[in-house]
Order: sequence, then C-alpha cells, then structure tokens
Amino acid sequence: MTEAVRVSGSLRNRLATTLIGGAAVLAILLFFVVRSYAAQIAQQGQDSILGASVTSILDAANVRDGRIEVDFPYASFSMLGTESDDRIFYAIYQDDQLLSGYDGLPAVDPKVGGDSSYRTAEFQDTPVRLAAASRMLVGADLRTQLTVSVAQTQDSLSGTLNRISRNVAIFGTGFFLLVVLLAFWATSAAIGPLARLTTSVARRGPQDLRPVVSPVPSEMVPLVTSLNSLMARLDQSLGRSEDFIAEAAHRVRTPLATVRSHAEATLQRVDREENRQAMRAMIRAIDESSRAAGQLLDHAMITFRADHLDRQDLDLVDLVQDLAVRLGPIADMRDVDLHVDAPNAVPITGDAILLQNAIRNIVDNALKYAPRESVVHIDVTTSPSPRVTVCDEGPGFPIGEIGGLSYRFARGSNADGIIGSGLGLTIAQDVATAHGGALTLGNHPKGGACVIFSF
Ligand SMILES: Nc1ncnc2c1ncn2[C@@H]1O[C@H](COP(=O)(O)OP(=O)(O)OP(=O)(O)O)[C@@H](O)[C@H]1O
Ligand SMILES: [Mg+2]
Repeated sequence: MTEAVRVSGSLRNRLATTLIGGAAVLAILLFFVVRSYAAQIAQQGQDSILGASVTSILDAANVRDGRIEVDFPYASFSMLGTESDDRIFYAIYQDDQLLSGYDGLPAVDPKVGGDSSYRTAEFQDTPVRLAAASRMLVGADLRTQLTVSVAQTQDSLSGTLNRISRNVAIFGTGFFLLVVLLAFWATSAAIGPLARLTTSVARRGPQDLRPVVSPVPSEMVPLVTSLNSLMARLDQSLGRSEDFIAEAAHRVRTPLATVRSHAEATLQRVDREENRQAMRAMIRAIDESSRAAGQLLDHAMITFRADHLDRQDLDLVDLVQDLAVRLGPIADMRDVDLHVDAPNAVPITGDAILLQNAIRNIVDNALKYAPRESVVHIDVTTSPSPRVTVCDEGPGFPIGEIGGLSYRFARGSNADGIIGSGLGLTIAQDVATAHGGALTLGNHPKGGACVIFSF
C-alpha cells in the first residue's frame, strides 16, 4: 500500500499568489505616483497663471501725484478663466494697508523683487490657491511697498485631477488584469515540465524502470537524477531477486525430478493400498512443486526479457501452429481436439520465446480446465489488430473472479484438485503488456472460457 503523501501548499498557488500580489502592489503604487505627479503638474500650471496675473497687476501700478494708481489690465483676470468658472479674489496692499480687493484674504509672505510666492489656504470656506508678489514704488515724494495677492478656487483643478485619477485607475486595473493572465500563463509554463515528468512516470508500466531521458529544466535535474538513481537501484535489486528466484527454482527442479522418478518406481513396488495412496499424494505434491518451480523460472525469464525484448519479424500463424503440434500429445492424452483456424499468415514483430510461452500457458489452461473429449478453438485473426483467441468448452472462468485471475499466484475456485501455481495468466499478461498489447479474459455466451491475446 502506498503511503498518502503529505501536502504542504501548492507550488502553482504560491507562484500565482506572489505574482498577483506583486502586481496588485505595483498597480496601487502606480496609481498614487501618477496621481501625485499629475497633481503637481496641474498645480504648477495654475501657479504660473496666478503668478502672471499678479505680475501683470503689479506692472500696471504707478505713482501719480503722490498717489498709487492701478490700472487693471483686462488680461490679468481673463487669463485665469477655467471651464469650471473658478472664482477669483484679489487684494492690493500698500505697506500692509488694504488698498483694494477682498478683506481677509489669507496672507502670503511675498518675496521682494518680483517673484511670486504661493500657498494653498481656505477662504470663504473654500480651498483656494494664492499667489502674491510685492514691488517697491518710488515717486517724487513717495516710497512705498505695493503687494498684490490673487487667489483662485480649485474646482477645475480637482476636476482635472479626478479625471486623471479615473483614467489611471482604469489603466491600473487593466494592467493588473493583464498581469493576472500572465501570472496564470507563467505558472502553467513553470509547472508544465513537472506535470509532464509526473505523467511520463505515472504512465509507465509497473516493470518499466528505465531512467528518465527527456530533457528537463536545470532546477529539476537534481530531482530527476535522484529518481533515476532510485530506479536503477530498484531495477538492480529486482533483477537480483528474479535471478535468485530463477536460481532457486532451477536448483529445486532437478532434485524434484529425481525424487519423482524414485517415487514412481516405488509406487510400482508397493502393494498395500494405504501406502500406494501415500505414494500418489507424494507424487502429486512433487508435481505441484515441480510445476511451481517451472512457472517461477519462466516468470523470472519473462520479467528479465520483457525489459530487453528481442524483437523479430514473426508469423503469428506459424508460431501458433508450431505450438499446437507441440501440445498435441498433451491434448491427445486428454482426448481434446486442438482446432486451429488461421489465415495464411499474420506478420507481427515480437519476442518469439516470450510469445510462445504466453500462448502455451493460455492453451495449457484450456486443456487443463476443459472437459475430456471436447474441442479447443485457437483462432488467429488480423483485425482489428493481430490476435490469438483461445476458447474451450469447459465451465469457463468463475464469474466475479475474472478481474483477479491474472495476478501472481491467483487461482480460481474451479482450480481445486488441478495442478497449477497461478502464474500462467500472469506470464501471458506480462508478455502482452511488454508487446504493447493486452490479455482479455471472458466467457463464451455458449459456455467455456475465451482468452484473447492481442497486439
Ligand atoms: N480455460 C480456463 N477455464 C476455466 N478457468 C480458467 C481457465 N484458464 C484459467 N482459469 C482460471 O484462472 C486461474 C489462473 O490461471 P493461471 O493459468 O494463471 O494459473 P493456473 O493454471 O492455476 O496455474 P499455472 O501457473 O500452472 O498455469 C486458474 O486457476 C483457473 O481458476
Ligand atoms: Mg495455467
């Protein structure tokens, strides 16, 4: 049983969250930076017009007959016109005495010498921007300082700012959505090689312990290297245990054959019925062990060869007919008629030794589990794919057990009293898988088991 893997978060989510979070912070930052920059520029625009207005009023002032005269040029206020009809206030002071204009206009410390000073303040409960400048007026008997202050409400400015903010917000949201899309694309692209590796390892058959050779990103190289080395060690240890089983089976089989021939000979000499029964049980047990040893040996050989298939061009019909001839004596012993139905030739490529072994096991089952004096049909066909179908006239596979019969050492409830080790179908199935084919077990509607070995 495989241990459930403990999950600690998801790489995809972590990556996507980081990218999207970063984009959100950037979008908000972008919004405030652009807004404040736009506000600064708009303010500078208003300031320079206010400054020009103050200067034009100051320039129009002069001293006549000891009195100060200011002739407002038309342009000094008209240049302040805005689309929101912002209100304009002004105040002219002579040495801090209000000469003309609005009383109580917030004071701005003017720089002497023409340059305007600016500030933002409240006037009549409305935020206004103020510009002020001073100039020294010198007449025949008068020397006085004239200060001009012009203020304007900021409706148009805040309108412009709102418009800019809205546009920047739309732009920022668009940017954010684009980054979200990019983040999903980037995470998929980054996770892709990992997913591909997972699929390629998951798709492998249980025997497939080849190293991963497809190229992977450099960050995944340590993972794939460890995976490959793990599989190499696993392959080695599997190989060693298969070798061990084959060696053990081989060593057991030879002495078993000797024991069996001695037991047979003894059986001939023994007269007492209970002794004869004991001898028969002994021979049967030896047959069981010998069959198991033989099947284990074959299974180990198949596991080894399945990894290094010796593929040749073969004729499936030839192979099956050859097998039918070789199994003829066993069929005759059971009075079973082996009936081969095949076209002239069915060309395939495969490992002849493995294929013979697999099909022999299937036919062997048909001979073993079918009743005496029946017919076993072996059909070779080409479509939909090359296949061998073996059907007998026996009781068929026990219903409900079919799914598990091709597991190692699995025997059906109908196998009682029949010598076998439960490896025949495992061998056939492994050979089919190694050839990219399948083994299908089923029962004929008219009775009898049908096994299809397809390529
Ligand atoms: N033609 C058949 N008709 C009925 N049952 C079958 C047939 N072939 C196989 N089976 C069932 O499937 C089981 C598994 O078959 P498998 O060939 O793997 O093992 P086995 O024949 O019991 O032993 P062996 O390893 O000696 O072949 C059998 O025990 C039997 O119950
Ligand atoms: Mg069998």
